[in-house]
Amino acid sequence: MDAVWTKVCDAQHVQPDSAFACEVDGRMIAIYRVEDRYFATENVCPHAYALLSDGWLEGTEIECPLHGARFDIQSGAVLEGPAECALKTYAVRIEAGEVQCIIPA
Ligand code: FES
Repeated sequence: MDAVWTKVCDAQHVQPDSAFACEVDGRMIAIYRVEDRYFATENVCPHAYALLSDGWLEGTEIECPLHGARFDIQSGAVLEGPAECALKTYAVRIEAGEVQCIIPA
């Protein structure tokens, strides 16, 4: 089956070097813009419950605002605890001014 690209938000809403919170079909997704590159991960920290889009983005690392876990937004990998589980990541593209992701069912 072909991958389905789904609109997540308008690209103009994602400021450079920041994270933006989106919701698609009840799923919380964070879109990150690092210079002109875009990345997407689940937005809820797997440690407890905090929105990573409220955290601090430095390069391609996001720091959770609640307990300070850090993740690589490219791979989802945990760089520093207390979180132990990696973030889900999603493929991203910009098409006709939209940020689009492939969100598995
Ligand atoms: S909720 Fe994110 S590190 Fe605890």
